[in-house]
Amino acid sequence: MNRDIIALIDKLEDQHSLSLEEYAILVQGRTPEAMEYIGEKARRIRREIYGTSVYVRGLIEFTNLCRNNCLYCGIRRSNHHCDRYRLTKDEILECCAAGYELGFRTFVLQGGEDAYWNDEILCGLIRQIKERYQDCALTLSIGERSRESYQKLYDAGADRYLLRHETADKTHYEKLHPAEMSFDNRMKCLMELKEIGYQVGCGFMVGSPWQTPETLAEDLKFIEEFSPDMCGIGPFIPHKDTPLGNHDAGTLEETLWLLSIIRLMLPHVLLPATTALGTIHPKGREMGILAGANVVMPNLSPVSVRKKYELYDNKICTGDEAAECRACLARRMQSVGYELVTDRGDVKRKRNF
Ligand code: SAM
Ligand code: FES
Repeated sequence: MNRDIIALIDKLEDQHSLSLEEYAILVQGRTPEAMEYIGEKARRIRREIYGTSVYVRGLIEFTNLCRNNCLYCGIRRSNHHCDRYRLTKDEILECCAAGYELGFRTFVLQGGEDAYWNDEILCGLIRQIKERYQDCALTLSIGERSRESYQKLYDAGADRYLLRHETADKTHYEKLHPAEMSFDNRMKCLMELKEIGYQVGCGFMVGSPWQTPETLAEDLKFIEEFSPDMCGIGPFIPHKDTPLGNHDAGTLEETLWLLSIIRLMLPHVLLPATTALGTIHPKGREMGILAGANVVMPNLSPVSVRKKYELYDNKICTGDEAAECRACLARRMQSVGYELVTDRGDVKRKRNF
């Protein structure tokens, strides 16, 4: 095995920090032996902090209308083949009720940037959910908004916010997004969410077009310094009706490698084994857990809209009812020695460890 890579893995485990240059070398040093070496460490650290528990988040994809035009995204504004929908408040509350029965204690409201959901309407929904389910956490993943808006949603009861930074390299960001979208604003949003007091998640797609070891090193350095509570990474998967539809998907191996690196860097972080990972390999999510992930996000959206929230081609779990999705994931986790738990699944801070 390459001694330099082993030394970098050991250093990361020890110091939870590397230089940009070291991250770039580590990113390129993946071999089957090095993956085994880092995977074993990532599993051990994850077990010391979170045991064999896997936290579950009930994902409610509540609107696929979006004002944005991200070049990789299947629900981008210019995709006229996308069949648009918006769930009603009552439909969302029904998803929560079904999810609660099934043991979910975190609901994630995810959607495109849909102007219908202004602060007033969203705050009303958040208050209703938090009032009905006082032992549950509510996560929002609805893109870029003003600081005032984030504050209002937080005051209404939202606990967490997922906003992937997508890439920490400004030039790379500008290649993946249209001119009207701004890298600086995305970063500003992340800082503001943290200042307000949300548990914040950032993240990126593995293998996105024009990604290089250097841009990945920037992602890792950014994540190290931002020190998020959650970090969502999953493979880029092309969607046929987008400008990037002819690019290759990210790979299983690279995603697993990066999951383990992130676990060593931020031992306490909440790290999902994503649906995208399950889409590129039938055992992707199980392998994600074995690489150091500790969260899964089964779908709670009504089956009637599942296929319409198609961010990328061949997305899995579009035909199953919530109960089947949860049961399927429970079996999958059990098969590798882990178990789904009924718990809000908050991040364990260093002082609690
Ligand atoms: N609108 C919100 C936002 O921008 O954060 C949330 C919804 S957005 C669809 C959620 C995430 O999906 C994005 O942050 C992006 O990383 C991921 N995504 C979009 N298109 C994808 C693709 N083709 N392959 C993999 N992930 C994708
Ligand atoms: Fe808006 Fe993807 S472009 S959610």
